[in-house]
Amino acid sequence: MLTSRPRGTNDIIPGEVEKWQYIEQIIRDVCCRYGYREIRTPIFEHTELFKRGVGETTDIVEKEMYTFTDRGERNITLRPEGTAAVVRAYLENKLYAGPQPVKLYYIGPMFRYDRPQAGRYRQFHQFGVEVLGAHSPGIDAEVMAMAMEVYTRLGLKGLELHINSLGCPECRPKLRESLQEFMGPKLQDYCPTCQDRFERNPLRILDCKNEKCSQLSAGAPTILDCLCDECAVFFHDVKTHLKELGIDYVVDETLVRGLDYYTHTAFEIMAEGIGAQSSVGGGGRYNGLVGQIGEKDIPGIGYALGLERILLTMEQQNVEFPPSWQPDIFIVTASPEAELTVLKLLAKLRGMGYKADKDYNGRSLKAQMKYAGKLNARYAAIIGENELENGTVMIKDMTTGEQKEVADNKVTEVLGGK
Ligand code: HAM
Repeated sequence: MLTSRPRGTNDIIPGEVEKWQYIEQIIRDVCCRYGYREIRTPIFEHTELFKRGVGETTDIVEKEMYTFTDRGERNITLRPEGTAAVVRAYLENKLYAGPQPVKLYYIGPMFRYDRPQAGRYRQFHQFGVEVLGAHSPGIDAEVMAMAMEVYTRLGLKGLELHINSLGCPECRPKLRESLQEFMGPKLQDYCPTCQDRFERNPLRILDCKNEKCSQLSAGAPTILDCLCDECAVFFHDVKTHLKELGIDYVVDETLVRGLDYYTHTAFEIMAEGIGAQSSVGGGGRYNGLVGQIGEKDIPGIGYALGLERILLTMEQQNVEFPPSWQPDIFIVTASPEAELTVLKLLAKLRGMGYKADKDYNGRSLKAQMKYAGKLNARYAAIIGENELENGTVMIKDMTTGEQKEVADNKVTEVLGGK
């Protein structure tokens, strides 16, 4: 127990963490170029925020939230997603009072009490973006273009952008009615959760993972059949923008997404790699969410991708990562008297920007060389009695095995400029 982590969580250890840093660096670079600024919100929020924001009839709220009462009797939930929290922060910090739209991004852990399997965890990490204060097909296309650019820059192949429109409060009653008409006669054959959602939110039934329910729902009326004129035009314009940007997409009328706040554009990105878990990210427009949380009529759109799934997919597609941390130089202490000289040289090199290290465990010369090899050091610098006397350092190129003695103030010439 003491040495095992909770189910559905992961340690990201050295060797792995460099891959995360690489992915995050690309994400931050793309965000910067598209004008998105980082936002950091708390990892826990008032439970009510997610109930209202994500929706009472969603799997997330019904089954997956980590909710607890804190010592002050407050009802708290570890964030299962970022959108509701970002909207809360946008309202609380009055970001609506500045120039609009506000383009934000976040990277951080999310928590869902899901059944753990490859690509599905209880603590996982999302990169997400939210654009608040703009309703135009251009920004929808931009958000999707940016998502696709992140994947492409990460080297992922076999990507598919699936898009749909989920309409607006105008079109929903018509859809609701058509769905109830279609599902009503066979309602008793659906799972208990779907039966429960039939009155409250029949659209959710289309997102049920139960195979029998999916079969029963095959051929159900689609949202696209029910779109009002305004939504149909908007969806058409979003597609036109995507075409103009040269972004391929598939219209997927069955795409409803697992959160209740979506209106208009909804999308998901599929990638070859982790089979059933192949959705590597998704998002959409949520024009009613700001109103639901803060009674302001402000439109929004965003998406999020799961970093674990991205990493798994990259590994399965054999994408190459930059090498993990390796010292430019490892300084070997070949006699006890050399210790202080080694420490001073180490400090000097680090101060100049070199990645440098030494042994702290009293290893023998041979063991220190072995250790330098394990760390993948480019060079080893040996300082022993002779070198101390001569004011020199013996440098070994760890790749070629070549050795040469240089004056101790000339080490950086061998290492190359910084
Ligand atoms: P979501 O589809 O629930 O959307 O999650 C986005 C991504 O997070 C998924 O596509 C998946 O890659 C990853 N993910 C979800 N659950 C897990 C899990 N248990 N383990 C590992 N990865 C997971 C949202 O969360 C919305 N907030 C996205 C959004 C932003 N929509 C508008 N703005």
